Amino acid sequence: MTVQQNPTQIMSPIMEAAEDEKISARDQMEALNPEAKELQFWIRTQKNAPSQQPWFSAAGKDDVGRLAPGQVGKNQLKPLPYRWRWSDYRPYLEKISKIAAGADVAPVEFADRQSIVLMNPGLTDRIQVTNTIRCSISIYNPGDIAPAHVHSPNASRTILTNNGGYTNIEGERCEARRGDVILTPNGTWHDHGNDGNEPVIWIDTLDWPLMEYLDCAWVDQDYEAAFETTDRIQPMRHIDGYSQKLYNNGGLKPTFVSHQRGFSQRLTPLFHYSGVDIQNALIALKDEAGDPYEGIHMELVNPVTGEPVFPTLRYGAQLLRPSEATQLKRETSSGYYVVIEGEGYTEISGQKFDWKPNDVIAVPNFLWRRHVNTSDKEAILYSVSDAALMRNIGQYRAQGKDKEGNVIQLEV
Ligand SMILES: [Fe+2]
Repeated sequence: MTVQQNPTQIMSPIMEAAEDEKISARDQMEALNPEAKELQFWIRTQKNAPSQQPWFSAAGKDDVGRLAPGQVGKNQLKPLPYRWRWSDYRPYLEKISKIAAGADVAPVEFADRQSIVLMNPGLTDRIQVTNTIRCSISIYNPGDIAPAHVHSPNASRTILTNNGGYTNIEGERCEARRGDVILTPNGTWHDHGNDGNEPVIWIDTLDWPLMEYLDCAWVDQDYEAAFETTDRIQPMRHIDGYSQKLYNNGGLKPTFVSHQRGFSQRLTPLFHYSGVDIQNALIALKDEAGDPYEGIHMELVNPVTGEPVFPTLRYGAQLLRPSEATQLKRETSSGYYVVIEGEGYTEISGQKFDWKPNDVIAVPNFLWRRHVNTSDKEAILYSVSDAALMRNIGQYRAQGKDKEGNVIQLEV
């Protein structure tokens, strides 16, 4: 890789005159654009955005993460680093839960879900945390049911409350507990609900913005018609936790079942990753050296292939030891973290975002970031990123910095 830099230009009078002529030519071309617009084309009068310099250059996008003006900039989406605090968003979940409980018609009926949807401030009013990922944080009151449906976006729930709530995926009930990740791969019918006594809260994660961009976002809510039934929730066709029973045996793959669940391809047949299992696996490895950029990091994988659970999204869980500070790393992918346990901060492009349990932090593409556990207890972060997609399209790369500040190619 070569490092490119912008030479500083000093304009001579001749260059200035030439520049004037260019501006004049540009003005003449611009004057043609109103009529060109009628014919659905644009006469090019602008160059690409400065942010299209290579991400791996010395300054990278830390310096040049600006949108182009005008026509060129219209298609550019650049998320910003951001943190949503549990202490800020929780009161709103409680408010909407109360409103829903007192309503004649539950909000799950008129807005599909009772949830808040996170908006990255760099993406104007779009309901996205990054270019590819949508996160909503939902609250389900006792008795709430989201009827069976299926959609093209891949989705998951990361459970924040301790107990209660479930997702039924393809006739398999997954009980929700804090720290669990319950996956609904695209093409799997699923319904959710809360049959406990307390409200339950979880983070819904979807690759919805990506599907929207591809014009491939669809939802089929008509379970009744698809299965010629009057029920709005799926009957149990398997024992509770069926996929865990099949696949949760560490390196042992059952050979007597089809690994196809639902009607899409390359998706994990294990739907439920238990928070307790994740935590135990991390704790059991805490005395290993780990990764200087990630601490003790594990990926939630498709147990049949070892690949990411979705072809688009990579899910991870990592443990940071007391006072552990990871080294700087940047990736071509983007994503978010949610804090499951502990206190510390994540530094993104020089900006510090301190965190506590249930805080959510967006990490845009390309930016240097590191995590610091500031407490004397273990911290656990979960992550979701579009690294799986980036790798599948040949665009995943990562760099790190060693302790002396030298840049190291981690994945070229
Ligand atoms: Fe869904």
